[in-house]
Amino acid sequence: MPVSQLPSTAGLRPDFIWGVSTSSFQIEGATKEDGRGPSIWDVYCQNGEVRNRDTGDVACDHYHRYREDVALMKSLGVQAYRFSVAWPRVLPQGRGSANEPGLAFYDRLIDELLAAGIEPWLCLYHWDLPQALEDLGGWMNRESATWFAEYTSLVATRFGDRVKRFATFNEPSMFNLFSRSIGKRDRTSEDNFHRAIHHVNLAHGAAVDVLREKVPGASIGCIHNLQPCWPSSSSEADAAAAARLDIYWNRAFPDPQCRGEYPSVMRSAIEPHIRPGDLARICRPVDWFGLNHYSPVYVTAQASSMLGFDFGEKPAGVPLTPIGWPINPEAFGETLRIVHESYGLPIYVLENGYGNFDKPDQTGAVVDPERIAFLRAYIGAMNSAAANGVDVRGYFVWSLLDNFEWDSGYSKRFGLTYVDYASLRRTPKSSFRWYADLIKTARQR
Ligand code: FCB
Repeated sequence: MPVSQLPSTAGLRPDFIWGVSTSSFQIEGATKEDGRGPSIWDVYCQNGEVRNRDTGDVACDHYHRYREDVALMKSLGVQAYRFSVAWPRVLPQGRGSANEPGLAFYDRLIDELLAAGIEPWLCLYHWDLPQALEDLGGWMNRESATWFAEYTSLVATRFGDRVKRFATFNEPSMFNLFSRSIGKRDRTSEDNFHRAIHHVNLAHGAAVDVLREKVPGASIGCIHNLQPCWPSSSSEADAAAAARLDIYWNRAFPDPQCRGEYPSVMRSAIEPHIRPGDLARICRPVDWFGLNHYSPVYVTAQASSMLGFDFGEKPAGVPLTPIGWPINPEAFGETLRIVHESYGLPIYVLENGYGNFDKPDQTGAVVDPERIAFLRAYIGAMNSAAANGVDVRGYFVWSLLDNFEWDSGYSKRFGLTYVDYASLRRTPKSSFRWYADLIKTARQR
């Protein structure tokens, strides 16, 4: 691939970090091995809530193939790898007795990464809550902040000698919105929805304190999914719905965590759940802002939905990925600028990527020029934002591997590496080689 097809990286810092991201439930498999307890996602799968009744039981079998996966990362040339710890693997009941074989798995993974010269970035929560805690009300129970602090303490004590980069949560707004408002899992009331937002924020603050205390030199953040929310028509109702979703999607977590206040429009709903001192407990100093970004979201007013909004039609002519997500690199540049101006923290882009339905050709190769074009455009937009003063310090592609894409099961592919789920064979796609070239070229500058 000619180097001319690489975007400019001239605006990025010399110590810019290139990485890839994954998460535990999406790749590990081995859900019933070595003492792991069930997570809420095991239960959703058992209940047939996932497309094709897919489950995470095998996934990419990373639990057994992590060495091969670290070798892939080494050949990709990434400096950092973001993964998550499965809470029910290390604490099968969510609290109480730790599970030594589960902890030992992450020891092996971390040691393998360090031996390969790849920095581990550990995310504490990427959605696989222990079912035992969900049975106690999950995030709707105020005690969840204490459970999370105890779990954080276990992870920090065990791995803090080798891991310094910690994220508390992946996309708190997503798992709250999708499990309690706009998703299929509409199981609760508006009051509980706000209650859970506040408890997750409290858990974040508690975990930051634990990490500071237990891990000297820790570099800590939370990972937020920020996407511009745009009305899907010119109606006033859609504009109001988009403004409302923007609050819950983009600000309900970063504002209290980084500024110590909830956005004004949600204050009266959240107030009943706030106790004296809570905002100070939530707003603990962090070192960076983790940003996940994919595309703008089009919103429509929906009176029957809990918060008055739903996803709307995308206007005609908007370019889309094969899985229907709008492609708009300028919106990414704009999001970076907004994060920079709103929160003033160094930014690490910890997810960005392209989903499709890749298939190997007759020769077995997986050729994905559209993913390359997407990455080129988005990295180009990030480079321009950095050249214009946005303090962005790293970029991680979602994802190293095709994997379990939540409600869509294995039907959507985001990997730089193709996974054949029957044989579990990994085949680097053309985008893998392109990203390897980009990293090499950028680092030689
Ligand atoms: C993000 C999730 C990640 C993956 C990508 C496609 O919202 O954090 O697990 O599903 O979307």
